[in-house]
Amino acid sequence: MSRRPIGIFDSGVGGLTVFREIRRRFPHEDIVYFGDTARVPYGPKSRGTVIDYSVQNARFLRQQGAKIIVVACNTAASVALPTLERSFDVPVIGVIEPGALAAEKLTRRHRIGVIGTEGTIRSGAYQKAIQRLYPAAEVIAQPCPLFVPLAEEGWEEHPVARQIAAEYLAPLLEADIDTLVLGCTHYPILKQTLRQVVGDHIALVDSAEAVSTWLVDMLPHSESEGVGRDEFFVSDNEEKFRRLASRILDSEVDRLQQVSLGETWYVEHPITPEERA
Ligand code: DGL
Repeated sequence: MSRRPIGIFDSGVGGLTVFREIRRRFPHEDIVYFGDTARVPYGPKSRGTVIDYSVQNARFLRQQGAKIIVVACNTAASVALPTLERSFDVPVIGVIEPGALAAEKLTRRHRIGVIGTEGTIRSGAYQKAIQRLYPAAEVIAQPCPLFVPLAEEGWEEHPVARQIAAEYLAPLLEADIDTLVLGCTHYPILKQTLRQVVGDHIALVDSAEAVSTWLVDMLPHSESEGVGRDEFFVSDNEEKFRRLASRILDSEVDRLQQVSLGETWYVEHPITPEERA
């Protein structure tokens, strides 16, 4: 059982920030990563579409033998987790709960900012997860759609990135948050710029780190198993993935293949109208 890989999926390359943390924590685990580069971005897409894509992605990972599925994409995790949990016979974990828990541990005044894609913020998933842990918490949420292209362009420390970050974060700073959740795969790449904008007194929660910490509790005996093999799959644009991956991981990816998910529509557990709404 434990020789089977950990499966991770994302809408594209950003989930490698999650892969990076999990690989660091689990040097001996085999990992299969799927980046849906044909259909990225998920951030602006509707809930139902993101759920459909997520089920396909998870199904692909199960076909690769994944013993656990990590939903690295915050947008996917924020809308598709209940459907995925219901549809698969292995544990499915997303970045939302671990990120919310990490924020609750760090906050002193329970004034928490959350930034993410439009889809993640619109879903209210982080807001609800934080308020489940501490109902009186004040959660101020802000979509930051321009951060993803800035990170992919390699402009994470460009003055333009600082200016945009200052605009996006102004309402959160005005609201006097003491903790900020980086609720998107790409935002850890912008951490230095975000730190400069918010200053030292605000705690930053990296949801990629938080989910890898969470996984430690779920896979306690992993250290002695597996051979630490990585396999990457994408649905399009292998070369772009390779280029961005080498920047995010600071090393080249070897085993990378392009696959088509076209034939794998999964309707065994149809999405309920409530989930799609
Ligand atoms: N992976 C997405 C997330 O974490 C960001 C990129 C996208 O919009 O697909 O929400």
